[in-house]
Amino acid sequence: MTDKLIIFDTTLRDGEQSPGASMTRDEKLRIARQLERLRVDVIEAGFAASSNGDFESVKTIADHIKDSTICSLSRANERDIARSAEALKGANSARIHTFIATSPLHMEKKLRMTPEQVLEQAKASVRFARNLVGDVEFSAEDGYRSELAFLARVVEAVIKEGATTINIPDTVGYAIPELYGNFIKTLREMVPNSDQAIWSVHCHNDLGMAVANSLAGVKIGGARQVECTINGLGERAGNCSLEEVVMAVKTRRDYFGLDVGIDTSQIVPASRMVSQTTGFVVQPNKAVVGANAFAHASGIHQDGVLKARDTYEIMRAEDVGWSANKIVLGKLSGRNAFKQRLQELGIEMESEGEINTAFAKFKELADRKSEIFDEDILALVSDESVTA
Ligand code: KIV
Ligand code: ZN
Repeated sequence: MTDKLIIFDTTLRDGEQSPGASMTRDEKLRIARQLERLRVDVIEAGFAASSNGDFESVKTIADHIKDSTICSLSRANERDIARSAEALKGANSARIHTFIATSPLHMEKKLRMTPEQVLEQAKASVRFARNLVGDVEFSAEDGYRSELAFLARVVEAVIKEGATTINIPDTVGYAIPELYGNFIKTLREMVPNSDQAIWSVHCHNDLGMAVANSLAGVKIGGARQVECTINGLGERAGNCSLEEVVMAVKTRRDYFGLDVGIDTSQIVPASRMVSQTTGFVVQPNKAVVGANAFAHASGIHQDGVLKARDTYEIMRAEDVGWSANKIVLGKLSGRNAFKQRLQELGIEMESEGEINTAFAKFKELADRKSEIFDEDILALVSDESVTA
């Protein structure tokens, strides 16, 4: 088992399935270039068989992006898989991702197939894909709601057919971290040839646990690939967010003991690009990439951070692509933060008494105005009454 965690980004495929987030070929190529700068291991560029437009997007990305593996999704049938292979021809490193549902509910109500038919179709699809490319991922759609014994049979069989990555999605975001982690662990133990493939997790965020579930799949289950999207973009409540999972593994390397190849300084630029392209605004308190993720408003926190940043910061804003952390001046700010901002603005005060007078005026203003900007401070100190 490798101790590298593979980051598989599906912003351009599952992310795009978010209602209202559809992207043009050129927009997708721009984002793919940013994902390459981010050093994502695998970029799922689209679902080539789903439309001519998506075929062209996958093909363009495969032709231009050379440092990441380029992947195309396909249902478990020859037409879809052949279309993916065609679109991926120009790639340096190509992956075909094929999937079929394995839960009783999906097999019976959606596919209207028996488990044996699903098993045979999964095997035939992986066999067909392996004749076209060397890197084949198999996903058991709705895997987490599947019966373990049947799922184990499918996984064992597709590994025998040559699947190199096995992905167990929590398609509907139903999992709980500990249960999902144990599900992956048990399944791996039940599959005799489990060590012949990389295990992957793919979690949706319907109960707000996509990141926690993915991390449990890694820590408890032994998965070594996480499927995720920038800003957690994705259908319904979204997918596992790339920035959160990457920074969790990096920040808590003591716990996970895994390396990720991501250039984290490209995270915020990637987040902004995806947000601007799709029109999906990032909430201010979103971890890592939200505008307030490294902002301090309370006086106690500001004082702490000014003395030693790690008092209230577990990551560096600069490490994820922000220019700096942010001290937001307002009614909760203390004298220390105010004094520091005066220095940054090049305002020299002759005595502590003068600072006290300015600080009192600042507090007065802050009671009337939720955030005090640099311009407010400049106006405040140019007011003669401050220095009088
Ligand atoms: O959520 C899901 O099950 C998927 C598969 C197609 C991988 O997106
Ligand atoms: Zn999905």
